[in-house]
Amino acid sequence: MSARFLSTEQARAFYDRLGRRQDWQRFYEGPAIRELIAHSDFNTAHRVFELGCGTGSFAATLLDTHLPQGASYTGVDISATMTALTRQRLSGFGARAQVSQSDGSLRFDVEDESFDRFVANYVLDLLPPQDIVEALEDAHRLLRAGGRLCLISLTHGETRASRLAIKAWTGLHNLRPSLVGGCRPVELTNFLKEDQWRVDFHKTVIALTIPSEVVVASKRD
Ligand SMILES: C[S@@+](CC[C@H](N)C(=O)[O-])C[C@H]1O[C@@H](n2cnc3c(N)ncnc32)[C@H](O)[C@@H]1O
Repeated sequence: MSARFLSTEQARAFYDRLGRRQDWQRFYEGPAIRELIAHSDFNTAHRVFELGCGTGSFAATLLDTHLPQGASYTGVDISATMTALTRQRLSGFGARAQVSQSDGSLRFDVEDESFDRFVANYVLDLLPPQDIVEALEDAHRLLRAGGRLCLISLTHGETRASRLAIKAWTGLHNLRPSLVGGCRPVELTNFLKEDQWRVDFHKTVIALTIPSEVVVASKRD
């Protein structure tokens, strides 16, 4: 069966309903997120852009622990609930944190070459392939030369248990994408154009049988 995807409206409605319960996914997302942080040099970042900030838990961790004092964070999400949760969570960071609700567009309303990190954790795996291409094109536009793309997505299994888990996951996705939040396994590196990106770190992290692909890539000049 060919893949089906949540429309922007369906994704917004799903994540509006899910709200804080998104953080229950930490049981399999946590180890991949720790790998991403370990390889993204956030301690040298000045401006971070995040697509699909969810409840703001990643942003809070960055601002609390990993970014330099003067660094700022900009997050966007299509969900009003998620945007409100992130704003609330980051309220203590004042002007360092900007959060806005988007209309789902993958042309982001920010200037060219104005950020040095672009983060998308478990977001590109919701999008149809052409939208992933579009999001990465715009990530390339908004990053400075040498800026980093920091991505995590659900991916294909590498062990017997993870292959079985992903087979079951994909079965649910094919039945009804909303059963798994619209996410399906993807291979992010297939979307990275060689003349645009240099892959610095690439690993599949398996947590409780669920495989995640972690990619850190630098924008080529
Ligand atoms: C699976 S959740 C991941 C949230 C968060 N990044 C995390 O790791 O917990 C996907 C998030 O992407 C948001 N999203 C989906 N499509 C989007 C789009 N086109 N533009 C902005 N946000 C989007 C959803 O509203 C949701 O908050």
